Amino acid sequence: MTNVTTKTVPAHLAIIMDGNGRWAQKRGLPRAMGHKKGAETVKEITRACGELGIKYLTLYAFSTENWQRPPEEVDTLMGLLRDYLKSDLKEIQENGVRIRFIGERYMLDSDIAGQMEKLEQETAANNKMTLCIALSYGSRQEIIAAARKIAAMAKAGQISPEDIDIKMFSDMLYTRDIPDPDLVLRTSGEQRVSNYLLWQLAYAELFFTPTLWPDFTKAELEAVLTDYSNRERRYGKV
Ligand code: FPP
Repeated sequence: MTNVTTKTVPAHLAIIMDGNGRWAQKRGLPRAMGHKKGAETVKEITRACGELGIKYLTLYAFSTENWQRPPEEVDTLMGLLRDYLKSDLKEIQENGVRIRFIGERYMLDSDIAGQMEKLEQETAANNKMTLCIALSYGSRQEIIAAARKIAAMAKAGQISPEDIDIKMFSDMLYTRDIPDPDLVLRTSGEQRVSNYLLWQLAYAELFFTPTLWPDFTKAELEAVLTDYSNRERRYGKV
């Protein structure tokens, strides 16, 4: 398991952290406990990614659809995020990590949005690794926002329809300064992408594990990376 070399490590790993609720249910605990344990896994796996030489890590922390969960569960998740942004990210920041957020910020409480802005500014010059947190994020919403910006530019006569190409469209997305993911990992056995980085995943390798997110470990991550390093990526060519 330690034979993962930097050469074969994906530059960008995107994770769908799923299964917190089921982890808690299996133990007869409230769902909130699953999220709490999941937040600990976030720290362990972020550290592991830095050690393994992954340059970009994107974590799906809260989707636009998650706003429809019961209010007390939304409060639990927002409370955990608040703690994470206020204290845990300090350690990350000290380790040369650049922090970025993608998603609809106007939906978030102003103290959370303010803290996000501050962290992005304070870590902008860090270059060991980029940690991108998808918060209040939905990929279709992101694509629509990009289409609206482009339509407004066209209406204003700033661009013509022929100017719209893959690069230009990519530059209108939240992820404009982040390369596309090479590998997407989803925990908990569900095999779907759930409105996550739909444009950016065009050529990504997909990996699904039955392990619930709170049980996911660095050792399993290394096994996933070994599987990835044995895959042949052809990008539609022979
Ligand atoms: C899925 O579990 C997980 C989420 C809703 C988001 C991930 C949140 C965390 C890991 C905790 C806080 C995050 C940070 C960055 C501190 P689920 O509730 O959908 O699980 P289930 O499908 O088993 O019900």
